[in-house]
Amino acid sequence: MRNYNIAIDGPAGAGKSTIAKSIAKKLEFIYVDTGAMYRAMALFMIKQNIDFDNKDDIENACDSVNVTIEYKSGEQQVILNGENVTNLLRTEEVGKMASNVAKHNTVRSKMVVLQQNLAAKANVIMDGRDIGTVVLPKADLKVYLTASSEERALRRWRELTEKGISCNIKEIEQDIIDRDKQDMNREISPLKQADDAILLDSSNMSIDEVIDKIIELFKQKCNE
Ligand code: DC
Repeated sequence: MRNYNIAIDGPAGAGKSTIAKSIAKKLEFIYVDTGAMYRAMALFMIKQNIDFDNKDDIENACDSVNVTIEYKSGEQQVILNGENVTNLLRTEEVGKMASNVAKHNTVRSKMVVLQQNLAAKANVIMDGRDIGTVVLPKADLKVYLTASSEERALRRWRELTEKGISCNIKEIEQDIIDRDKQDMNREISPLKQADDAILLDSSNMSIDEVIDKIIELFKQKCNE
């Protein structure tokens, strides 16, 4: 039996993971958060004090990093050299560093193989920056999910404020803009909309509207 693949790409804070996670539950697919894999790589580099711009150091470090994915009650767990680091990955610092680490070919090649192996084994919905263009070029459905930087910053600000973390919305927006710029302009597998991806701008859509739209698009694609 063949596996179905849904690829969701887009800039930072567009809501990809919240949306993909919910769709995975509804369709009974496996959700693969590829950003978390780059974040685990970044965490290793941070812990080892490795200079992100030093290609040789990054390449050497890559040989000592083993990132694997497990699922616990349906939730993705990221294992870094035997340690479950899932709860250490969602900070702004790690996100920024992940974008730096992700520029390197050695890192990307290692991650892409891991991601393609996961997709070969199950029905997956995978989110990231290069899923539709590189990782799953034959995905059944490709969505490029975006929203204005103001809206993405506002959503992030709300999320942090609700957790009692004080933050500045302008700084959040600037961080988002900087990270997008780096992800869109790197040499290898930059963030871009695949030619056959459907563009969804969620600036004026609720999470449920986006989820319903993607499920509808997937069903349409399957009936084509
Ligand atoms: O989606 P995220 O914010 O967790 O991703 C963190 C960084 O990892 C992102 O800024 C760029 C990099 N990344 C990537 O280069 N390719 C992917 N498929 C996923 C993430």
